[in-house]
Amino acid sequence: MKRIIAAALALVLGCCGWTTTRQAIPVSREMREEAAPCVALTFDDGPSCHTARLLDGLRERGVQATFFLLGCQLEGNEELVRRMRTEGHQIGSHTHDHALLTELTTEAALADLARCDLALCTLLGEGDYWVRPPYGAVSDEVRAQLDVPVLGWSVDPRDWECQNAAQVLAQIAREARDGDIILLHDCYASTVDAALQAVDLLHSRGFEVVTAAELLRRKEIAPKAGRIYYQGR
Ligand code: NI
Repeated sequence: MKRIIAAALALVLGCCGWTTTRQAIPVSREMREEAAPCVALTFDDGPSCHTARLLDGLRERGVQATFFLLGCQLEGNEELVRRMRTEGHQIGSHTHDHALLTELTTEAALADLARCDLALCTLLGEGDYWVRPPYGAVSDEVRAQLDVPVLGWSVDPRDWECQNAAQVLAQIAREARDGDIILLHDCYASTVDAALQAVDLLHSRGFEVVTAAELLRRKEIAPKAGRIYYQGR
């Protein structure tokens, strides 16, 4: 009986927060992550023959990125795209065939975006497939009709132009700050090299590399449909 009374008393005292020893408040992994500076790596124009190597490297490093895919390149790459999803990457739309949306009528631009969205839904199931318009160009009229956010960027190493890993890495090393969204293209071998080296460099500086959605979440920015986000600041 004494033992039962003691146990009941301990339970009551415990519930009331009475403790005889002071305990350090543990710092959870989540709290450390929230505090770390972070950036999002985003890849447009894929999937391509270089994407699998990029996914391998990201998996080795435990990093998730964001991929804005072209609808016309999904056929034949279904397994690769499913792998992106399985490995936790964010997947979005970069239109069906890389049209400059501002040269189309509003109806044609929306039809193009709907075609890519449908292809992604067919392959991966219903989801929020954020949009990155080719060249970052989209009219206010088209944006107003979207039911997902639009993603811009704040660091552009122009990897497609130089196709030089050292140059791309150097620009990321120079410019990347907390909250940046970095624009890359996973259709160049040089970009895959640069991106993986950039992850290692950013990690060595204490940065987390996360998806665009996760970047905004950590910065307490609630993404809204049709609104364009250039950075998480
Ligand atoms: Ni593009």
